[in-house]
This record gives sequence, structure tokens and C-alpha cells, in this order.
Amino acid sequence: MRVLLTAGPTYEPLDPVRFLGNRSTGKMGYALAEAFAVGGAEVTLVSGPSQLPEPASPRIRTVRVETAAEMFAAAAAVAATADVWVFAAAVADYRPARVAPEKIKKSGETLVLELVKNVDIAATLGQSKRPEQFAVGFALETENELAHAQDKLHRKHFDLIVLNSLRDAGAGFGHDTNKVTVLDAAGQIVNFELQSKADVARGLVSLILARLTPSP
Ligand code: CTP
Ligand code: CA
Repeated sequence: MRVLLTAGPTYEPLDPVRFLGNRSTGKMGYALAEAFAVGGAEVTLVSGPSQLPEPASPRIRTVRVETAAEMFAAAAAVAATADVWVFAAAVADYRPARVAPEKIKKSGETLVLELVKNVDIAATLGQSKRPEQFAVGFALETENELAHAQDKLHRKHFDLIVLNSLRDAGAGFGHDTNKVTVLDAAGQIVNFELQSKADVARGLVSLILARLTPSP
């Protein structure tokens, strides 16, 4: 089985020394890569800038990227040959409209940045998804969580969407633990306990594998 995984943040350059980024560490995506590899899968881990060490497993090929555009190119290159797509990256929705060739100098009291929309990696690849391919997305919502997650699942052609809880202390960005809820297209909901990201990853991988090979 071949798995395409996106993980970590993206950095969108503003000038030679600055970028727009986010607080994603990549922990959840890297833990998923390890869990898939332990399960025998061949994983392409397309990772944005993360401080985490590159996974040592020979079953994991790590492709390092910086921007959403680079992440899209690296993911698109292997999407057709992957059986499972997992989009765990926190992709910047917008990037600076222009990258200044020189360091932007301090001048007025305010500075207005113009941003343009980035490619939606999951949604764009989703348009060419074959019926036998399986796609999993992530979502982090602060209101109407289930409705927003369902909407994303349909819009991006996901088979499952993993909703990150922000309500629980110890869950989410930077933490070693996570609390997630998994939704499918039929509206079925699976609630995971607050547990280590490694355990969440193992639970998600078994759930995905069970969906891929439904018991008779
Ligand atoms: N995603 C992606 N490419 C993007 C944005 C998001 O592949 N440019 C993926 C994420 O990796 C995640 C899913 O889409 O699996 C949902 O991301 P999210 O940021 O929650 O969705 P958005 O469509 O960007 O909506 P929002 O306005 O809530 O940020
Ligand atoms: Ca977003």
C-alpha cells in the first residue's frame, strides 16, 4: 500500500528574511507516517518546515518543502500512484502577493500586506481522485465544528475527516496529545479519547485500513 501524507506548516516568503507561517509542528503527520510504515505501507511524507527529525524508517521517504505551491507540486507528483492520501498539513490559505527582492525597510506607522489565495492541495487533488483511492483530511474549527467538518469532507472529496478538538487542554498545536473526532460521508462519528499523538495515529491508521478492506 502506498500512502501520500502532507504534514507541518507552510512558510510563505515576504522578503529574503521574512515569511508568513503558522504554529503547526508536524507532530500529528509524522506520527501518522510512522504508524503507516509500521503497518507495512510505503509512505511519501511531504513535509513543510518542521523541527522534527526526519523519520528513520526505510519505508518513509521524506520530501521537504517550504511553501504551499511547493507542497502541492510534491504531492501532485505522487498522488496518482498512492492508494491513500492523508492531508495533515496546516497549509497557509494565503501568501504575500509579491515577494520583495530586498528586505522590506521600516518606514510608515502602518504596513498593509496584500495576500493572494494559495492552491487548495486537498481539494485540487480530490478532483482527480479515483473511486478506489481513499482520502483523509483534517479540520480545526472553533464553532459549528461538525457541520463545518462535514462541509469540508464533501467539498474536498474526503472519505474521512479528522476534527481536532480545541476545547480540551492538551490537544492540538504543539502538544504531544490530541483529542479527535472522525466523521465519514455517511455521517458516522467516532470519538477518540485524549491520548498521545502516536496513539491517535495508530487508531487512525487502523480505522483507515479497516475502511480500505471492509470485513465481509
Ligand atoms: N488543505 C490543503 N490545502 C490548503 C488548505 C487546506 O490541502 N490550501 C487541507 C488541510 O491539510 C486539511 C483540510 O484541507 O486536511 C482542511 O483544512 P482547513 O484549513 O480546515 O480548510 P480550509 O478549506 O482552508 O478552510 P478554513 O477557512 O476553515 O481554513
Ligand atoms: Ca485553512
